Amino acid sequence: MSALPEIPLNDGRKIPVVGYGFGTANLGKDSSDAVVLALSQGFYHLDGAEYYANDESIRVGLETAKVPREEMFYTTKCCSNDPRKALQAALKTLNLGYVDLYLLHGPDFFPELGVARAWEICEEMQREGLCRSIGVSNFRVKDLEDLLKRAKVKPAINQFELHPYLYKHESALIDYCKTNDIAIATYASLTPLTSAKGGPVDATVERIAAETGFTSGQVLLKWSQQVTSGIVITTSGKASRLQEQLVAFTSMPDLTKLQINAIVENGRSKHHRIFFPHMDEL
Ligand SMILES: NC(=O)c1ccc[n+]([C@@H]2O[C@H](COP(=O)([O-])OP(=O)(O)OC[C@H]3O[C@@H](n4cnc5c(N)ncnc54)[C@H](OP(=O)(O)O)[C@@H]3O)[C@@H](O)[C@H]2O)c1
Repeated sequence: MSALPEIPLNDGRKIPVVGYGFGTANLGKDSSDAVVLALSQGFYHLDGAEYYANDESIRVGLETAKVPREEMFYTTKCCSNDPRKALQAALKTLNLGYVDLYLLHGPDFFPELGVARAWEICEEMQREGLCRSIGVSNFRVKDLEDLLKRAKVKPAINQFELHPYLYKHESALIDYCKTNDIAIATYASLTPLTSAKGGPVDATVERIAAETGFTSGQVLLKWSQQVTSGIVITTSGKASRLQEQLVAFTSMPDLTKLQINAIVENGRSKHHRIFFPHMDEL
């Protein structure tokens, strides 16, 4: 499997720049074939979650694909009130000894325990070796500020939704993460081609695709990676698309500042969020 570029994390570890997600299209579905497809196409960074309710089938896929554990990067996320119980259950179901990254899936999933205690449990499990890096998902600036007041270990990553129709809203969060050395992983980068088709960035993205000789999908993935200097989680059920997506992170030249800013400017007039409405609150 050829190596993907890696992004350094604040705990000294590294993460492959692109990951294959088991949410959205794979949510709650038998994902065994998706695991085999992703790994066979070179996506060895896999993004699962307790919420996706498909760990059992992911294990079947991992057993079929037979990729050595140390050659994969596996993330899972906790959305129940007990991060230790959730991770132990995930490891058992997935038949893994550890995950590379464990995320609290959102700040509102721990009403009884509280985020600070949930995070402390993640810190303990990291020390025990059950998860190598720990981070959060769908945390706003205020959630990160609260967490950093109590945390002994800074989150390595914040994973959240980002595409041109959210850039205006999320630019302060992007700046905060960069300033505080928290790597950014984004999802739903392809939204202008999927649920927000026909929007104000389409013509610009198509023009840049024509100028560069890449596809609109590649332009949007590259844009997300460049504006965050981070990681992009995407997915597809088609081998040809996965190959196309990988090119955006391996051999596609950087977009120019002019191209990046043209997408930012054209995206400003529309606000479109698919996941986690709490992220709209500042
Ligand atoms: N942390 C969180 O709360 C959270 C929330 C949402 C998602 N995620 C993660 O991020 C992953 C990706 O999320 P996403 O699916 O929203 O991401 P996305 O990358 O925006 O969209 C991927 C989807 O777009 C389709 N697609 C790919 N290229 C296309 C093109 N050129 N034209 C039209 N459609 C195209 C794919 O379908 P085909 O199969 O047809 O190619 C696939 O279903 C999830 O699986 C999950 O792991 C995390």
